[in-house]
Amino acid sequence: MKSIKWKWQQLILSLGCLLLILACNSFDPSTKQDAKLLKVATDPTFIPFEIQTARGKLEGFDIDLMNAIAQVALFRVDFENLPFDGMISALQAKRVDAAISGITITAERLKTIAFSRPYFKAGLAIAVRQDNQNIKDFNSLQGKKIAVQIGSTGADFAKTIPNAKISTFNSGPEFFQDLLNGNVDAVVSDAFATLYAIKNGKLKGIKVVADLLTEEYYGIATPKDSPHLDTINKALAALLSNGTYKQIYQKWFNAEPPQLPESW
Ligand code: ARG
Repeated sequence: MKSIKWKWQQLILSLGCLLLILACNSFDPSTKQDAKLLKVATDPTFIPFEIQTARGKLEGFDIDLMNAIAQVALFRVDFENLPFDGMISALQAKRVDAAISGITITAERLKTIAFSRPYFKAGLAIAVRQDNQNIKDFNSLQGKKIAVQIGSTGADFAKTIPNAKISTFNSGPEFFQDLLNGNVDAVVSDAFATLYAIKNGKLKGIKVVADLLTEEYYGIATPKDSPHLDTINKALAALLSNGTYKQIYQKWFNAEPPQLPESW
């Protein structure tokens, strides 16, 4: 009789402990399972900012930076692949919480979405086939056939070239292929991505003739009035001052990062 009572006491005590542990866990905001999950769009066709390995793993400067931001801000990231051209409308419709994809902050885009503080200093470049001798600068692009990415700042820039015939493509690999095939004379796209791909043997037969034609800054995009923008900005500021940003920059570009403005 005594031993049955003792067993009951033990059982109740254990149940009590279990409940206490469960309760404590759900009140601790830092536990990973309870951290907020942010859906972040990316177009992983943009080496070395976002690329997808053969096994489907996302890698790149932007991916490392976003993961570092999440670590500081205590949220989890669920990356979602989206074509670059569909990113702004996905943000506007709040189908995603944010987008990181080498997205240039522009006045036009700020009309419909919001951006974090600048996180990367960038600019456009002109790329041609290695044997091309006559395209050297903006002026020599007049009347030429030019390939660009749909919805990119390169596409906006190409529109300003007098008499240019513009072909638009969904991703970097496609417009460079068009250049190699001889269908177009030049590509106007982001300088860092193009130079990186050439240097790492991913773009054979192509050279950059003019780089940093424009001064651009990449920002993390969010819907307007996003409750996460302030958190992202604070985390970015922390990574810039604690050396993590520099570490990520050096990992991908093997160089000292340039000074970034605090706002655009
Ligand atoms: N910086 C350019 C823009 O904002 C192009 C970015 C392309 N990024 C990408 N992941 N495909 O228009």
